[in-house]
Amino acid sequence: MGNAAEAKRTISEGTAAGGARTVRLGKVYGSGDMAVRALDDVTVEFPAGRFTAIMGPSGAGKSTLMHCVAGLEDASSGKVYVGDQELGALSDRRLTRLRRERIGFVFQAFNLIPTLTARDNILLPLTLAGTSPDREWLNTVVRVLKLGDRLSHRPSEMSGGQQQRVALARALVTRPQIVFADEPTGNLDSRTGAEVLALLRNAVDDLGQTVAMVTHDPVAAGHADAVVFLADGRIVDLMDAPTADRVLDRMRGLGDHS
Ligand SMILES: Nc1ncnc2c1ncn2[C@@H]1O[C@H](COP(=O)(O)OP(=O)(O)OP(=O)(O)O)[C@@H](O)[C@H]1O
Ligand SMILES: [Mg+2]
Repeated sequence: MGNAAEAKRTISEGTAAGGARTVRLGKVYGSGDMAVRALDDVTVEFPAGRFTAIMGPSGAGKSTLMHCVAGLEDASSGKVYVGDQELGALSDRRLTRLRRERIGFVFQAFNLIPTLTARDNILLPLTLAGTSPDREWLNTVVRVLKLGDRLSHRPSEMSGGQQQRVALARALVTRPQIVFADEPTGNLDSRTGAEVLALLRNAVDDLGQTVAMVTHDPVAAGHADAVVFLADGRIVDLMDAPTADRVLDRMRGLGDHS
């Protein structure tokens, strides 16, 4: 690498505060004959204050990428930065704290605590951190996600879409620096889905929130500022200022009919 490129890279490493990025990230599950290479040499940026969508066929490595960048799984190779902090350099304790204070995560499988009500599930990150909620923000999140009449219900008493909205509320309640959302609209009717996308869009535009979202839906991806296309654990394409039509065209080109 030449000096200019090296300097540029150093500058960008120093100015990544707020966003997240990976450098040659690799993730292998298992070992020997059973080894699965879920991510292969992935260098990608989720810039601060931007809304990035991640797309690609089932098994492409989308969830794995989000889990690694959010510090929920270790990288097998390469590096992950949240802001200017390299995750691999952190002790378990500091990593836990960074996750709790700076990252919101909506899991593909919701991961709600079955014994807690919706309200207590939403407030869990604050309870764990020993802080109290910003009432106004909590009310906004609950209102936009239409959870007002569900707050005393347990997950088993809610539909999939309702559980998804609780999971999203939980990720947003701390106003984290970065929200990672794994198919947050996958289980929602189109109207609620559109509202969730608008909420994420507003969080980016009005609060400077950084959002990375996995989706299979070109319309959902059309709300993002950029789309990262993954296939077989590799980045195969990038698109700025996506529209649903352009995303659909690109997906056809990449042979993703999911
Ligand atoms: N814990 C694990 N142990 C072993 N293999 C895993 C594990 N998690 C994921 N994989 C494998 O890694 C690859 C990528 O999986 P990943 O869940 O990241 O895909 P995805 O793009 O999120 O797919 P989907 O759209 O179906 O959610 C797949 O081959 C998957 O089987
Ligand atoms: Mg997935």
